[in-house]
Amino acid sequence: MLDKIKEIQQQIADFTIDNKEKLEQFRIAYVGRKGAMADLFDGLKNVIQEERRAVGAELNALKDLAQTKFNEFQTIIEASSDKSLEVEFDLTLPNIPNLNGSVHPLTLVRARIIEIFEKMGFNVSDGPEIESDFYNFTALNFPENHPAREMQDTFFIEKSNGEIKDDILLRTHTSNVQIRLMQNKKPPLRSIMPGRVYRNEAISARAHCLFHQVEGLYIDKNVGFKDLKDTLYHFAKEMFGKDTKVRYRPSYFPFTEPSAEIDITCLICKGKGCNVCKYTGWVEIAGSGMVDPNVLENCGIDSKEYTGFAFGMGIERITMLKYQIKDLRLFTENDVRFLRQFEGQ
Ligand code: PHE
Repeated sequence: MLDKIKEIQQQIADFTIDNKEKLEQFRIAYVGRKGAMADLFDGLKNVIQEERRAVGAELNALKDLAQTKFNEFQTIIEASSDKSLEVEFDLTLPNIPNLNGSVHPLTLVRARIIEIFEKMGFNVSDGPEIESDFYNFTALNFPENHPAREMQDTFFIEKSNGEIKDDILLRTHTSNVQIRLMQNKKPPLRSIMPGRVYRNEAISARAHCLFHQVEGLYIDKNVGFKDLKDTLYHFAKEMFGKDTKVRYRPSYFPFTEPSAEIDITCLICKGKGCNVCKYTGWVEIAGSGMVDPNVLENCGIDSKEYTGFAFGMGIERITMLKYQIKDLRLFTENDVRFLRQFEGQ
């Protein structure tokens, strides 16, 4: 009997269980009620009384051995055949395109503007979007109650009690940074100031209540109108191509004197006339002028020693011209069909 137990013990140890079928065969042979174990337990009654106890203990140990091995392999095999862990591949399916994100066209153009001016020695300055009347208007030579303030429909900040504070506003242009820069740094100054600006205007294909500007400022000894002209001429050619024509139109801004608006030939209709250029063949890209001596003095700069020019342009306008976009609203609608066209630019 003990020999038989040894033999079965060896069989159990040698039995390889590497799949479900083998596991089942093992169960029937060594764990189930009708297998080798049952025969052995049956044979126990033939063992002489004195040895029965010892043989019984051996048999129980054998039974445990078989059961333990069975449990162990059952766990392993079940885990490896768990369907939920399996990934099913269907190699006939079309692949899912790996779409790259794209940089927003306004960000692209902003970066390009910065690049062009940086090459001419301008650095980049920043300033607040929520501004006081002083930096947005007064210091820029907008007299109080002057109609020039109406040129830019302003959003004033409402206090929590609903009262409008007319000295705190959303900046209507990036010219506020001009003032902060002149107050904080000594000339020579050569800087551009990109940023968001706000105007209380109805949203249409040509206007928005939120848009972006880049203001530029150059203050030094002997800066003249020719420097302004050359700088913006160079910018227009770099941005829109060598054949771009530029014209300067007299204009008015409270903070520059003389002032000029800068137009380029309409790139959408190539000068023939379209709704973007209002059928004139020209589109305005920037306002500019020589910094008014009053503004320099407001910022503590001696206007007898220093002169300077400033300009301001809308990033949306430049982007529309560069990429032939006819509706300003496309920039804020987040339509991926529009945005994807700028992939890889
Ligand atoms: N700040 C002006 C505007 O928003 C543009 C401008 C800037 C004009 C600097 C002249 C000089 O319209």
